[in-house]
Amino acid sequence: MHTLIHLLDNNKVWSNAINASDPEFFRKLAEQQHPEYLWIGCSDSRVPANQITGLAPGEIFVHRNVANIVAETDFNVLTVIQYAVDVLKVRHIIICGHYGCGGVQAALENFRHGMIDNWLAGIRSLSRLHRKELDALPPDAAVDRLCELNVLAQARHVARTTILEDAWERGQLISIHSWIYRLETGIITPLAPCMQKPLHFSTIDGRPPADDFPDSH
Ligand code: CO
Repeated sequence: MHTLIHLLDNNKVWSNAINASDPEFFRKLAEQQHPEYLWIGCSDSRVPANQITGLAPGEIFVHRNVANIVAETDFNVLTVIQYAVDVLKVRHIIICGHYGCGGVQAALENFRHGMIDNWLAGIRSLSRLHRKELDALPPDAAVDRLCELNVLAQARHVARTTILEDAWERGQLISIHSWIYRLETGIITPLAPCMQKPLHFSTIDGRPPADDFPDSH
């Protein structure tokens, strides 16, 4: 008695196709992974990391949550970052948000959504910090601008973890990239130059590092 039989069928077709073109693919991949990239993105089903970057299994380590948040108190994301940096030794960390993000939109709405309101507290703080700019925009544009600001803030959070500061201190080469994806076009756009050293030496957007999340995380 099988349920989801169509998914299991899809899986066999996929596996057979890869075996046909490279009979050693799965055997080699099972031995070890050497991804060069860590992806931190939104859980949204329309933003699948491997597919939109054209990467195969084994090429990108992935963490996704609602609204691509990197909270310094979240052991889940910290564990993923530490494993990626210290063990897998990835060269690039990509924070990728997307325009029209439902989580970011919820953070801008003035009513209760449930448990997720706690998860989104940091983005609400960020929206208060940029209230003047956001209030001047039409509602959809305000959500999209907050999606961008959120990516930039989360990238700074990654840079400020002890994991990244220690890795850079050791001389490990890691770049943090701030990207945003547009659902309507399937195109990713970088939002800022990548960060390659601790923030007390530089900022990604020319503003002082104290400019974000003063009252959260
Ligand atoms: Co989203």
